[in-house]
Amino acid sequence: MIQKKMAHIITYGCQMNKYDSDVISRILEESGYELTDDEKCASLVLINTCSIRKHAEDKVLSKLGELSNRKKDTHDLRIIVSGCMAQRLGNKLVHRFPEIDIVVGTGMIAELPNILKGNDNPINLPLLRGTNPLTPFNKGEKVYTGESSCLYPETHINKRGLKSYVSVILGCDNYCSYCIVPYVRGKPRSRKPVEIIREIELLVKTGHKEITLLGQNILAYGRDINESFVRLLRDIHSIDGLMRIRFLTSHPRDITKDLIDVFPELPKVCEHFHLPVQSGSDRVLRLMGRGYTVDHYNRIVEEIRRVYPCPSITTDLIVGFPGETVDDFEDTMKLVKEIGFDTAFCFKYSPREGTPACKFHDQLPEEEKARRLKELLDVQKAISLQINQALIGSVQEVLFDEKNPKDGAPLAEGASLTNECSLLGRTRGDKVVVVSTKTHRIGDIGMVSITEANNWSLKGVFVDE
Ligand code: 5AD
Ligand code: SF4
Repeated sequence: MIQKKMAHIITYGCQMNKYDSDVISRILEESGYELTDDEKCASLVLINTCSIRKHAEDKVLSKLGELSNRKKDTHDLRIIVSGCMAQRLGNKLVHRFPEIDIVVGTGMIAELPNILKGNDNPINLPLLRGTNPLTPFNKGEKVYTGESSCLYPETHINKRGLKSYVSVILGCDNYCSYCIVPYVRGKPRSRKPVEIIREIELLVKTGHKEITLLGQNILAYGRDINESFVRLLRDIHSIDGLMRIRFLTSHPRDITKDLIDVFPELPKVCEHFHLPVQSGSDRVLRLMGRGYTVDHYNRIVEEIRRVYPCPSITTDLIVGFPGETVDDFEDTMKLVKEIGFDTAFCFKYSPREGTPACKFHDQLPEEEKARRLKELLDVQKAISLQINQALIGSVQEVLFDEKNPKDGAPLAEGASLTNECSLLGRTRGDKVVVVSTKTHRIGDIGMVSITEANNWSLKGVFVDE
């Protein structure tokens, strides 16, 4: 029997990268690789990278150092780098780590099958659809950072599970002054609705109950192809068997009252809104180029709360943006306390080369950024606890998708239960819920009465048990 070549994928960064890694997994399988969780067994290691903050890039560089050393010792290793760092650094990565075999940028995932073929067998060079139409694959070429005419290859994500991400729009042209994304992910490009629907229908057929639509700026969906986000939502909503729909990430400037009014007509759309505010100071928001004021943001939150009795509102915040004064920071703290976010992802500003804010003069010292971050995190932790505690006594709809890892041997989907076990699930507001049960299993959606809460999870009992 011929032994299959083994491949291992390492993913850094956001949900979009996780989705891209799922697509890449399928491409590798179709190219004759078997995927393994054990990096040491793999003859191909692909690192899907992130550039959003320096820390994310540092982790990748250290991993590349480790893999390069392994390759120097064993030779039998193919190293591929994909994602935002691949796009941003291209040739520079190969100069620093000559052991890398292929660098494939964010616009060339669709070409990966051909790139792999050409790299395997340079005699039989395939054609790339990218850059100039049908550019031949050049012998010895390692770096592919052009743009393919296809967003994703015609491959179907073939995975089991209950929840999945589905990328619907790639890229962003908001050019917030701190952000590297527009430079590494390109202008917004929407996938065709038929393609998205087909993919979700397939996911539902394989048992998925919840999907999260992804886009760096999801509310821009359709503008480039004369489609609309609401139309897409309605079409997805009508897919039988699909129970829950979420979407990420909404730019506060693009959320309108009309849009908010549509959501309750679509009950599968969960009342969970991730609305990155970034700062609570109008002055800083202007410097960031966000295109809204604190007042506008407050009004959106009010509208959402008018339409839903108990929505989850989550956000991203950056502290220590260049020139952020103590007063600006206090404005952020004030906003955080007033709005009461369910969760806030808080970051220290990280200068990204090539972005306008990187050249702003008044960069803050690292210690001051760290001090502000800690202060913000402490306040947010207390707020999350308070919001979660207020849910005690309420009944929540929970989709259970995991066995509590702290509770013995894994439980297969569909297995019948004889003993009590502990399951993990999520509410419509995306809060983690832990429940002990004898009758329910993974895959169930059940009504749970909340009995306990901490700042990151809830505990409860099934109302019907
Ligand atoms: N420094 C710190 N945080 C950043 N983000 C984006 N760029 C930077 C940066 N240069 C944060 C924003 C964004 C989230 C995905 O990452 O809060 O919403
Ligand atoms: Fe970056 Fe702003 Fe686009 Fe978000 S909206 S990806 S922060 S440029």
